[in-house]
Amino acid sequence: MSRIHVPWLDAEDGLRLTRRGLLARSGAIAGAAALGAPWAPVRRALAKEAGFPGVAAGMRVISRSPINLETPIPQLRTWITPDEWFFVRLHLPGYAQLSRDTWQMTVDGEVGQPLRLGWADVQRFQRVELTAWLQCAGNRRGHFQPKAAGGQWDRGAIGNARWTGICLRDVLLSAAPTLKAHHVAFEGNDPHGQAPPYVRSVPIEKALDPNTLLVFEMNGQPLPVLHGFPVRALVPGWVGSVNVKWIKSVHVVEQEWNGPYMKDLYRINLVPINPADKNFNFAQDFVPTTVFPVNSFFTSPVTGATVPAGPAAFTGVAYAGETTIAAVEVSVDGGAWQPARITTPGTAYAWYQWAFAATLGPGSHVLAVRATDSRGRTQPREALWNPQGYFYNAWDMLTVGVS
Ligand code: MTE
Repeated sequence: MSRIHVPWLDAEDGLRLTRRGLLARSGAIAGAAALGAPWAPVRRALAKEAGFPGVAAGMRVISRSPINLETPIPQLRTWITPDEWFFVRLHLPGYAQLSRDTWQMTVDGEVGQPLRLGWADVQRFQRVELTAWLQCAGNRRGHFQPKAAGGQWDRGAIGNARWTGICLRDVLLSAAPTLKAHHVAFEGNDPHGQAPPYVRSVPIEKALDPNTLLVFEMNGQPLPVLHGFPVRALVPGWVGSVNVKWIKSVHVVEQEWNGPYMKDLYRINLVPINPADKNFNFAQDFVPTTVFPVNSFFTSPVTGATVPAGPAAFTGVAYAGETTIAAVEVSVDGGAWQPARITTPGTAYAWYQWAFAATLGPGSHVLAVRATDSRGRTQPREALWNPQGYFYNAWDMLTVGVS
């Protein structure tokens, strides 16, 4: 039997399907193939059949269980990332399928007035809207040398969306936090079996920030199921993992949450370490990832593309955690840094789009981009290597061929 390579299903583990196995999986697929249909309908049928609700065909599959899907670079060229093209990052094999009618969330712990809120209660708080990017800590992890542990994400574990919801601050204040309210932990409704629940905490200062939200709409539509329907946390500028989906409880606590997603994962070294060293004590010597550092990357053309000789256009995005972007610069073949033009200004939470033009002669060219945030921090040539591969923000390098 011939083996065919299915690029849009290409997980990091090099998943391959046999043609017969593929056709047997769905009548729609078999029908389309039997009629000699082009691959596009087969691809669409397969994407539906693959069981990723609300997800576009063409997402790069990092893993199927848990579901981890990366946005292809061309889909990052719009200021707002469409819901169906927004990356998906899960830790546990299943996901919560909830109904607004029965969903409830609690607010408990260091509060004078514990709360139990249903959908209608949430709607009674003042509605707010915020455009913000959401990025996984492991975005660009695949660029680390030597390799860091975990899914080898390229640049597409990020998206920029318009979120609608309520201020977490309003909910917390109505629960009357005590003086011991120093951290706020979000617990997700993920089915977790014997495993610990998905819980991440943030210091109370960030929880009380008016831009920290409980959101129920993404780009004007109810949150898609894989993005946390009916309600998720939005902690803009911070590591993606604190944006807990399918909110079940908000625990107001004195100490940082003591669970594996706080003490074992999402921790980083603050100083350089030797990658050959293997004896790390994450809970003791590493600190939780919080605000993202400044970052930028190319969105057009894609690495390895060939463009005609003469004037060439380059575009990309730039963003920094909790601050604005002051400058984006591009260097061609190791030459001086030249300013890129901001085409869509962002905010302290929404990303920026930029463009750069260069006239290139035939051959292979390497371009680099770096951004500087409004606090004067510039992307480094090399990212701080860390064993779990978080916060990669080195200059983005793009190799293009010119014919
Ligand atoms: N929330 C729950 N309940 N379960 C999860 O596994 N993953 C987190 C976060 N919230 C996760 C979660 C991680 S690691 C990231 S990067 C973001 O969700 C990704 O959000 P998205 O899938 O909506 O893009």
